[in-house]
Amino acid sequence: MSPIRAVFVGVGAMASLAAPMLIDKEVQIVGAVGRSPGKVGRDAGDVLGLDRQLGVPVEADVAAVLSSRPVDIALVATSSFMADVGAHLAVCARHGVNAITIAEEAIHPWRTSPRISADLDALAIEHGVTLTGGGFQDTYMINLVTTLIGAAHRIDRVVGRSSFNVDEYGPEVARDQQVGRTVEQFEAWLAHADRPPTFGDNILDAIAAASGLTITDCTTTTRPDLATAEIRCESLDLTIEPGRLIGFTDVDTFETAEGPTLTVELSGRIYNAGETDVNDWRVAGDPTMHMVNPDVDTQRATCTQWVNRIPDVINAPAGLTSVDRLPPMRYRPLPLHHYVDRA
Ligand SMILES: NC(=O)c1ccc[n+]([C@@H]2O[C@H](COP(=O)([O-])OP(=O)(O)OC[C@H]3O[C@@H](n4cnc5c(N)ncnc54)[C@H](OP(=O)(O)O)[C@@H]3O)[C@@H](O)[C@H]2O)c1
Repeated sequence: MSPIRAVFVGVGAMASLAAPMLIDKEVQIVGAVGRSPGKVGRDAGDVLGLDRQLGVPVEADVAAVLSSRPVDIALVATSSFMADVGAHLAVCARHGVNAITIAEEAIHPWRTSPRISADLDALAIEHGVTLTGGGFQDTYMINLVTTLIGAAHRIDRVVGRSSFNVDEYGPEVARDQQVGRTVEQFEAWLAHADRPPTFGDNILDAIAAASGLTITDCTTTTRPDLATAEIRCESLDLTIEPGRLIGFTDVDTFETAEGPTLTVELSGRIYNAGETDVNDWRVAGDPTMHMVNPDVDTQRATCTQWVNRIPDVINAPAGLTSVDRLPPMRYRPLPLHHYVDRA
Protein backbone atom coordinates (compact mmCIF):
# COMPACT_ATOMS: atom_id res chain seq x y z
CA MET A 1 0.00 0.00 0.00
CA SER A 2 1.15 3.56 -0.62
CA PRO A 3 1.37 5.89 2.42
CA ILE A 4 -1.77 6.12 4.52
CA ARG A 5 -3.79 9.31 4.03
CA ALA A 6 -5.32 10.66 7.23
CA VAL A 7 -7.63 13.50 8.18
CA PHE A 8 -7.90 14.99 11.67
CA VAL A 9 -11.40 15.81 12.83
CA GLY A 10 -10.71 18.09 15.78
CA VAL A 11 -7.40 19.94 15.87
CA GLY A 12 -6.86 20.42 19.59
CA ALA A 13 -4.32 19.22 22.15
CA MET A 14 -4.40 15.51 21.31
CA ALA A 15 -4.25 16.04 17.54
CA SER A 16 -1.27 18.35 18.07
CA LEU A 17 0.56 15.65 20.04
CA ALA A 18 -0.31 12.96 17.49
CA ALA A 19 0.58 14.90 14.33
CA PRO A 20 4.41 14.57 14.63
CA MET A 21 3.96 10.86 15.37
CA LEU A 22 1.97 10.45 12.14
CA ILE A 23 4.62 12.31 10.16
CA ASP A 24 7.39 10.14 11.69
CA LYS A 25 5.52 7.05 10.53
CA GLU A 26 4.97 8.49 7.04
CA VAL A 27 1.23 8.95 7.38
CA GLN A 28 0.15 11.85 5.15
CA ILE A 29 -2.09 14.44 6.81
CA VAL A 30 -4.33 15.29 3.84
CA GLY A 31 -7.04 17.21 5.69
CA ALA A 32 -8.01 18.79 8.98
CA VAL A 33 -11.35 19.82 10.40
CA GLY A 34 -11.74 22.46 13.08
CA ARG A 35 -14.45 24.67 14.47
CA SER A 36 -13.35 28.02 15.84
CA PRO A 37 -12.76 30.99 13.54
CA GLY A 38 -9.24 31.21 14.98
CA LYS A 39 -8.37 27.84 13.41
CA VAL A 40 -10.52 27.47 10.30
CA GLY A 41 -8.72 28.70 7.16
CA ARG A 42 -5.22 28.51 8.65
CA ASP A 43 -2.64 25.94 7.56
CA ALA A 44 -3.05 22.70 9.55
CA GLY A 45 0.70 22.60 10.26
CA ASP A 46 0.45 25.95 12.05
CA VAL A 47 -2.69 25.01 13.99
CA LEU A 48 -1.19 21.66 15.04
CA GLY A 49 2.00 23.37 16.23
CA LEU A 50 4.28 21.69 13.67
CA ASP A 51 7.52 23.33 12.63
CA ARG A 52 6.34 23.53 9.03
CA GLN A 53 3.21 24.14 7.01
CA LEU A 54 1.37 21.16 5.57
CA GLY A 55 -0.22 22.93 2.61
CA VAL A 56 -3.60 21.80 3.96
CA PRO A 57 -6.04 24.32 5.41
CA VAL A 58 -8.18 23.61 8.46
CA GLU A 59 -11.75 23.42 7.17
CA ALA A 60 -15.08 23.52 8.98
CA ASP A 61 -17.10 20.88 7.11
CA VAL A 62 -16.18 17.21 7.59
CA ALA A 63 -18.28 16.05 4.63
CA ALA A 64 -16.66 18.58 2.30
CA VAL A 65 -13.18 17.43 3.32
CA LEU A 66 -13.95 13.72 2.96
CA SER A 67 -15.69 14.09 -0.40
CA SER A 68 -12.96 16.20 -2.01
CA ARG A 69 -9.91 13.87 -1.72
CA PRO A 70 -9.01 10.22 -1.12
CA VAL A 71 -8.78 9.47 2.62
CA ASP A 72 -7.92 6.14 4.28
CA ILE A 73 -8.70 7.06 7.88
CA ALA A 74 -10.11 9.86 10.01
CA LEU A 75 -8.65 10.54 13.45
CA VAL A 76 -11.50 12.00 15.46
CA ALA A 77 -10.77 13.97 18.64
CA THR A 78 -13.59 16.42 19.24
CA SER A 79 -15.54 15.22 22.28
CA SER A 80 -15.99 12.39 24.76
CA PHE A 81 -19.45 10.95 24.22
CA MET A 82 -21.15 8.96 21.47
CA ALA A 83 -24.04 11.43 21.37
CA ASP A 84 -21.58 14.06 20.07
CA VAL A 85 -18.95 12.07 18.22
CA GLY A 86 -21.46 9.71 16.58
CA ALA A 87 -22.34 12.31 13.95
CA HIS A 88 -18.68 12.64 12.88
CA LEU A 89 -18.28 8.86 12.73
CA ALA A 90 -21.44 8.59 10.61
CA VAL A 91 -20.13 11.16 8.11
CA CYS A 92 -16.88 9.18 7.85
CA ALA A 93 -18.78 5.96 7.19
CA ARG A 94 -21.02 7.56 4.56
CA HIS A 95 -17.89 8.72 2.71
CA GLY A 96 -16.28 5.27 2.86
CA VAL A 97 -13.61 6.42 5.34
CA ASN A 98 -12.41 4.35 8.33
CA ALA A 99 -12.27 6.22 11.63
CA ILE A 100 -10.71 5.92 15.06
CA THR A 101 -11.85 8.31 17.76
CA ILE A 102 -10.43 8.87 21.23
CA ALA A 103 -13.90 9.75 22.59
CA GLU A 104 -13.79 7.85 25.87
CA GLU A 105 -17.27 6.34 25.54
CA ALA A 106 -16.38 4.89 22.12
CA ILE A 107 -13.91 2.44 23.66
CA HIS A 108 -16.86 0.01 24.19
CA PRO A 109 -20.09 1.91 23.56
CA TRP A 110 -22.78 -0.75 23.05
CA ARG A 111 -24.33 -0.82 26.55
CA THR A 112 -24.18 2.92 27.28
CA SER A 113 -25.28 4.05 23.77
CA PRO A 114 -27.02 1.05 22.21
CA ARG A 115 -29.00 2.89 19.54
CA ILE A 116 -26.14 5.04 18.24
CA SER A 117 -23.82 2.02 18.26
CA ALA A 118 -26.25 -0.16 16.31
CA ASP A 119 -26.84 2.58 13.73
CA LEU A 120 -23.10 3.19 13.28
CA ASP A 121 -22.41 -0.52 12.96
CA ALA A 122 -25.04 -0.87 10.21
CA LEU A 123 -23.75 2.22 8.40
CA ALA A 124 -20.12 1.05 8.59
CA ILE A 125 -21.02 -2.38 7.23
CA GLU A 126 -23.09 -0.83 4.44
CA HIS A 127 -20.11 1.31 3.37
CA GLY A 128 -17.40 -1.29 4.01
CA VAL A 129 -15.43 0.65 6.66
CA THR A 130 -14.34 0.17 10.26
CA LEU A 131 -15.17 2.59 13.06
CA THR A 132 -13.64 2.25 16.49
CA GLY A 133 -12.62 3.95 19.71
CA GLY A 134 -9.02 3.95 20.94
CA GLY A 135 -6.63 5.90 23.12
CA PHE A 136 -5.17 5.44 26.57
CA GLN A 137 -7.60 2.77 27.71
CA ASP A 138 -6.68 0.42 24.84
CA THR A 139 -3.52 -1.08 26.36
CA TYR A 140 -3.35 0.38 29.85
CA MET A 141 -6.91 -0.32 30.96
CA ILE A 142 -8.21 -3.07 28.70
CA ASN A 143 -5.72 -5.19 26.77
CA LEU A 144 -2.98 -5.39 29.44
CA VAL A 145 -5.65 -6.19 32.02
CA THR A 146 -7.42 -8.86 29.98
CA THR A 147 -4.04 -10.48 29.22
CA LEU A 148 -3.11 -10.41 32.91
CA ILE A 149 -6.35 -11.95 34.12
CA GLY A 150 -6.09 -14.47 31.29
CA ALA A 151 -3.18 -15.93 33.26
CA ALA A 152 -5.37 -16.63 36.32
CA HIS A 153 -6.92 -19.96 37.26
CA ARG A 154 -9.68 -18.18 39.20
CA ILE A 155 -10.59 -14.52 39.61
CA ASP A 156 -12.54 -13.25 42.62
CA ARG A 157 -12.06 -9.53 42.17
CA VAL A 158 -10.30 -7.10 39.82
CA VAL A 159 -9.68 -3.56 41.06
CA GLY A 160 -8.17 -0.93 38.77
CA ARG A 161 -7.14 2.60 39.73
CA SER A 162 -6.33 5.41 37.34
CA SER A 163 -5.88 9.13 37.80
CA PHE A 164 -5.23 12.33 35.89
CA ASN A 165 -4.02 15.74 37.01
CA VAL A 166 -6.81 18.27 36.45
CA ASP A 167 -4.22 21.03 36.18
CA GLU A 168 -2.81 19.54 32.94
CA TYR A 169 -6.09 20.51 31.24
CA GLY A 170 -8.07 23.69 30.79
CA PRO A 171 -10.38 25.44 33.30
CA GLU A 172 -13.44 23.60 31.95
CA VAL A 173 -12.08 20.29 33.23
CA ALA A 174 -11.29 21.81 36.64
CA ARG A 175 -14.84 23.18 36.89
CA ASP A 176 -16.28 19.80 35.80
CA GLN A 177 -14.24 18.13 38.54
CA GLN A 178 -15.79 20.56 41.07
CA VAL A 179 -12.37 21.89 42.12
CA GLY A 180 -12.62 24.44 44.93
CA ARG A 181 -16.16 23.43 46.01
CA THR A 182 -17.09 22.57 49.59
CA VAL A 183 -18.25 19.04 50.39
CA GLU A 184 -21.80 20.38 50.85
CA GLN A 185 -21.73 22.07 47.44
CA PHE A 186 -20.36 18.86 45.88
CA GLU A 187 -23.07 16.72 47.47
CA ALA A 188 -25.80 19.10 46.34
CA TRP A 189 -24.37 19.06 42.78
CA LEU A 190 -24.10 15.25 42.77
CA ALA A 191 -27.68 14.81 43.97
CA HIS A 192 -29.02 16.79 41.01
CA ALA A 193 -26.33 16.30 38.36
CA ASP A 194 -27.55 14.84 35.10
CA ARG A 195 -24.26 13.09 34.47
CA PRO A 196 -23.60 10.83 31.48
CA PRO A 197 -22.26 7.33 32.15
CA THR A 198 -18.75 7.26 33.59
CA PHE A 199 -15.91 6.14 31.32
CA GLY A 200 -15.19 3.37 33.85
CA ASP A 201 -18.43 1.81 32.69
CA ASN A 202 -17.11 1.42 29.13
CA ILE A 203 -13.74 0.10 30.33
CA LEU A 204 -15.37 -2.58 32.49
CA ASP A 205 -17.73 -3.46 29.63
CA ALA A 206 -14.70 -4.14 27.42
CA ILE A 207 -12.92 -6.23 30.08
CA ALA A 208 -16.07 -8.25 30.74
CA ALA A 209 -16.71 -8.81 27.03
CA ALA A 210 -13.12 -9.89 26.36
CA SER A 211 -13.17 -12.28 29.33
CA GLY A 212 -16.54 -13.92 28.64
CA LEU A 213 -18.15 -12.45 31.77
CA THR A 214 -21.87 -11.72 31.91
CA ILE A 215 -22.72 -8.46 33.69
CA THR A 216 -25.55 -8.82 36.22
CA ASP A 217 -25.31 -5.55 38.14
CA CYS A 218 -23.49 -2.20 37.76
CA THR A 219 -23.07 0.49 40.39
CA THR A 220 -21.34 3.85 40.30
CA THR A 221 -20.38 5.84 43.39
CA THR A 222 -18.58 9.16 43.44
CA ARG A 223 -16.43 10.38 46.32
CA PRO A 224 -14.86 13.82 46.78
CA ASP A 225 -11.09 14.20 46.95
CA LEU A 226 -10.22 16.88 49.50
CA ALA A 227 -7.28 19.22 49.97
CA THR A 228 -5.30 18.27 53.08
CA ALA A 229 -3.31 21.52 52.95
CA GLU A 230 -3.62 24.75 50.98
CA ILE A 231 -3.04 23.92 47.28
CA ARG A 232 -3.08 25.88 43.99
CA CYS A 233 -5.31 25.14 41.00
CA GLU A 234 -3.41 26.93 38.24
CA SER A 235 -6.04 26.44 35.54
CA LEU A 236 -8.65 28.24 37.70
CA ASP A 237 -6.05 30.59 39.25
CA LEU A 238 -7.44 29.58 42.63
CA THR A 239 -5.94 28.70 46.01
CA ILE A 240 -7.92 25.87 47.59
CA GLU A 241 -8.32 25.75 51.35
CA PRO A 242 -7.92 22.45 53.27
CA GLY A 243 -11.21 20.52 53.32
CA ARG A 244 -12.38 21.81 49.93
CA LEU A 245 -12.43 19.65 46.78
CA ILE A 246 -9.36 19.11 44.62
CA GLY A 247 -11.48 16.85 42.39
CA PHE A 248 -13.42 13.62 42.71
CA THR A 249 -13.19 9.87 42.04
CA ASP A 250 -15.80 7.75 40.27
CA VAL A 251 -15.91 4.11 41.34
CA ASP A 252 -17.68 1.69 38.98
CA THR A 253 -18.33 -1.88 40.06
CA PHE A 254 -19.75 -4.71 37.95
CA GLU A 255 -21.05 -7.98 39.37
CA THR A 256 -20.94 -10.91 36.97
CA ALA A 257 -22.92 -14.14 36.66
CA GLU A 258 -19.68 -16.13 36.57
CA GLY A 259 -18.51 -14.72 39.94
CA PRO A 260 -15.72 -12.17 39.49
CA THR A 261 -16.38 -8.59 40.59
CA LEU A 262 -14.79 -5.88 38.45
CA THR A 263 -14.08 -2.41 39.85
CA VAL A 264 -12.38 0.61 38.37
CA GLU A 265 -11.67 3.92 40.11
CA LEU A 266 -11.08 6.94 37.87
CA SER A 267 -9.83 9.99 39.71
CA GLY A 268 -9.48 13.52 38.30
CA ARG A 269 -7.93 15.88 40.84
CA ILE A 270 -5.21 18.45 41.48
CA TYR A 271 -2.05 16.53 42.31
CA ASN A 272 0.01 17.19 45.41
CA ALA A 273 3.75 17.72 44.81
CA GLY A 274 5.41 14.53 43.56
CA GLU A 275 2.18 12.76 42.52
CA THR A 276 2.05 11.20 39.05
CA ASP A 277 -0.67 9.53 36.97
CA VAL A 278 -1.70 6.20 38.49
CA ASN A 279 -2.30 3.00 36.54
CA ASP A 280 -2.66 0.19 39.04
CA TRP A 281 -4.50 -3.15 38.76
CA ARG A 282 -4.90 -5.71 41.55
CA VAL A 283 -6.42 -9.13 41.02
CA ALA A 284 -7.63 -11.26 43.93
CA GLY A 285 -7.85 -14.92 42.97
CA ASP A 286 -5.56 -17.78 42.10
CA PRO A 287 -2.89 -16.47 41.86
CA THR A 288 -3.02 -12.97 43.32
CA MET A 289 -1.71 -10.44 40.78
CA HIS A 290 -0.62 -6.80 40.80
CA MET A 291 0.26 -4.72 37.73
CA VAL A 292 1.37 -1.12 38.13
CA ASN A 293 2.76 1.39 35.65
CA PRO A 294 4.36 4.17 37.67
CA ASP A 295 4.88 7.56 36.00
CA VAL A 296 2.70 6.71 33.02
CA ASP A 297 2.48 9.63 30.56
CA THR A 298 -1.25 9.44 29.89
CA GLN A 299 -1.43 12.09 27.18
CA ARG A 300 1.45 10.75 25.06
CA ALA A 301 0.33 7.17 25.63
CA THR A 302 -3.12 8.18 24.36
CA CYS A 303 -1.65 9.46 21.10
CA THR A 304 0.91 6.69 20.52
CA GLN A 305 -1.90 4.15 20.74
CA TRP A 306 -4.27 6.23 18.61
CA VAL A 307 -1.57 6.27 15.90
CA ASN A 308 -0.32 2.66 16.27
CA ARG A 309 -3.86 1.36 15.87
CA ILE A 310 -4.30 2.88 12.40
CA PRO A 311 -3.24 -0.23 10.41
CA ASP A 312 -5.39 -2.50 12.64
CA VAL A 313 -8.45 -0.34 11.99
CA ILE A 314 -7.87 -0.30 8.22
CA ASN A 315 -7.32 -4.09 8.25
CA ALA A 316 -10.35 -4.92 10.43
CA PRO A 317 -13.67 -6.22 9.09
CA ALA A 318 -16.30 -3.58 8.37
CA GLY A 319 -18.47 -2.43 11.25
CA LEU A 320 -18.29 -0.68 14.60
CA THR A 321 -15.66 -2.57 16.56
CA SER A 322 -13.71 -2.21 19.79
CA VAL A 323 -10.07 -2.61 20.78
CA ASP A 324 -10.68 -5.90 22.59
CA ARG A 325 -11.68 -7.36 19.19
CA LEU A 326 -8.61 -5.99 17.37
CA PRO A 327 -5.24 -7.81 17.43
CA PRO A 328 -3.02 -7.06 20.44
CA MET A 329 -1.22 -3.74 20.12
CA ARG A 330 2.17 -4.22 18.43
CA TYR A 331 5.23 -1.99 18.14
CA ARG A 332 5.36 -0.35 14.69
CA PRO A 333 9.00 0.44 13.83
CA LEU A 334 8.31 0.97 10.10
CA PRO A 335 6.12 3.50 8.28
CA LEU A 336 2.57 2.50 9.11
CA HIS A 337 1.51 1.55 5.57
CA HIS A 338 3.86 -1.46 5.84
CA TYR A 339 1.33 -2.99 8.24
CA VAL A 340 -1.72 -2.57 6.03
CA ASP A 341 -2.87 -5.85 4.50
CA ARG A 342 -4.77 -4.40 1.55
CA ALA A 343 -3.00 -3.91 -1.79
N1 LIG B 1 -9.44 8.13 25.14
C1 LIG B 1 -8.43 8.79 25.61
O1 LIG B 1 -7.44 8.20 26.00
C2 LIG B 1 -8.44 10.29 25.65
C3 LIG B 1 -7.31 10.98 26.10
C4 LIG B 1 -7.31 12.38 26.01
C5 LIG B 1 -8.43 13.06 25.57
N2 LIG B 1 -9.54 12.33 25.21
C6 LIG B 1 -10.73 13.03 24.72
O2 LIG B 1 -10.48 13.46 23.39
C7 LIG B 1 -11.19 14.66 23.13
C8 LIG B 1 -10.22 15.68 22.57
O3 LIG B 1 -9.25 15.99 23.56
P1 LIG B 1 -8.28 17.24 23.40
O4 LIG B 1 -7.44 17.29 24.63
O5 LIG B 1 -7.63 17.20 22.08
O6 LIG B 1 -9.36 18.41 23.46
P2 LIG B 1 -9.25 19.89 22.88
O7 LIG B 1 -7.86 20.40 22.99
O8 LIG B 1 -10.36 20.65 23.49
O9 LIG B 1 -9.54 19.68 21.32
C9 LIG B 1 -10.79 19.33 20.82
C10 LIG B 1 -10.88 19.91 19.45
O10 LIG B 1 -12.08 19.49 18.84
C11 LIG B 1 -12.64 20.61 18.18
N3 LIG B 1 -14.07 20.39 18.07
C12 LIG B 1 -14.97 20.20 19.06
N4 LIG B 1 -16.19 20.00 18.53
C13 LIG B 1 -16.05 20.09 17.19
C14 LIG B 1 -16.92 19.99 16.11
N5 LIG B 1 -18.21 19.75 16.32
N6 LIG B 1 -16.43 20.11 14.86
C15 LIG B 1 -15.11 20.34 14.64
N7 LIG B 1 -14.22 20.46 15.64
C16 LIG B 1 -14.69 20.33 16.90
C17 LIG B 1 -12.28 21.82 19.02
O11 LIG B 1 -12.30 22.93 18.18
P3 LIG B 1 -12.04 24.44 18.66
O12 LIG B 1 -10.67 24.47 19.27
O13 LIG B 1 -12.08 25.19 17.40
O14 LIG B 1 -13.13 24.76 19.63
C18 LIG B 1 -10.89 21.44 19.49
O15 LIG B 1 -9.90 21.87 18.58
C19 LIG B 1 -11.83 15.08 24.45
O16 LIG B 1 -13.18 14.72 24.46
C20 LIG B 1 -11.05 14.29 25.50
O17 LIG B 1 -11.82 14.01 26.65
C21 LIG B 1 -9.55 10.99 25.23
